[in-house]
This record gives sequence, C-alpha cells and structure tokens, in this order.
Amino acid sequence: MVVDSNLSMLAQTRPERDEFRTAMARIATAVHVITTAGPGGRAGFTASAVCSVTDTPPTLLVCLNRSASVYDAFEENKMLCVNSLSRSQEPLANLFGGGTPMPERFAAASWSRLATGAPVLEGGVAAFDCRVTSTFDIGTHTVLFCQVEGILRDDQAEALIYFERRYCAVGN
Ligand SMILES: Cc1cc2nc3c(=O)[nH]c(=O)nc-3n(C[C@H](O)[C@H](O)[C@H](O)COP(=O)(O)O)c2cc1C
Repeated sequence: MVVDSNLSMLAQTRPERDEFRTAMARIATAVHVITTAGPGGRAGFTASAVCSVTDTPPTLLVCLNRSASVYDAFEENKMLCVNSLSRSQEPLANLFGGGTPMPERFAAASWSRLATGAPVLEGGVAAFDCRVTSTFDIGTHTVLFCQVEGILRDDQAEALIYFERRYCAVGN
C-alpha cells in the first residue's frame, strides 16, 4: 500500500530480508573498527551496527555476526575497543570488512592501548575502550553490551560515513 507517493514510502507489514537491507542502506551510519586482544587472540572487524545505549553508566552496543571469523576471539576476551573511523581511514574499513588475514588488517595502521588492552586505533574520530558486560543473541547476530572504561577523541577529525553502500565524509 502506497502511503505517500511524494515520499515514495511503501508500507508493508512483513518485509523480506532484501527489502530490509535496501531500506537500511538508506540509513547513514558511522563506520567503526571493533578490536579485541587477550587469551582469545587479537582480532578486529568493521561494524556499522553500533549505538549508544545509556550514559549512566556509559554503554554502547555492538552487533556481531556469529558466523564471522572473529566471533570466538570477542566471545573469549570480553574486552573490546570501538574505534570510530575518520575520512582518511576508508582503506581500513575495507581491510577489516572481511576476507583479509588478521595480521594484514592490523599491519595497515598504528595502535595503542588503554585500560582493557584492546587495540586503540590512531587517527580516528573517537575510541571507546570497553568491557563486555552482557550479550544477547538474536537471529544471526549477538548483541554485545559494552561498558565504556576509557575514551580518546580527536575533535578536528572528519568522520567516515556509510550511506547507500558507499563511503562519504562529514566534518566541521
Ligand atoms: C561498512 C561495513 C559495515 C559492517 N558492519 C558490520 C556489523 O555491524 N556487524 C557485523 O557483524 N559485521 C559487519 N560487517 C562485516 C564484518 O566486518 C565482517 O563480517 C568481518 O570483518 C568478519 O569477516 P571475516 O569472517 O572474513 O573475518 C560490516 C562490513 C562493512 C564493510
């Protein structure tokens, strides 16, 4: 049923997977590289499914596909860093976006550490060093609830944005 032809909005009660993905591609998101290190090994992946949950205590959520090669490392380490990418870091988004061996992903950038030991990316917009406090499985993904233990920011950096399956940038 067409609700408003001017806006090309199509209301459907039960959208299919592809329709959902196509609509979500219209939602601009920040691009992050989520990293971990510890007994489960060093690992990292690109994520757009990241959001603030509450500021009391400061908490983020990250959605991770359980079929990803990095899943076991995140499950075991229970520490991670949400590294929000700046505009010049598009190559990192591609490297950490799947299919590249882990050493090659990490070799492409410089890293430091905060409290948890998860790799903190240099040159990003912000980094949130986190402890995973709980998880929730839904469908193909696990939602990781992450209490923020430390933050780094660069207020001058322009942000990398993902929109319509392409990268662009926004800034001051
Ligand atoms: C822009 C972009 C956003 C992504 N967002 C997510 C995400 O939010 N959650 C997720 O599990 N995977 C996401 N992925 C895919 C993962 O980065 C990819 O599955 C991960 O690197 C594991 O790949 P591997 O199994 O080849 O190691 C995204 C990829 C790209 C390029």
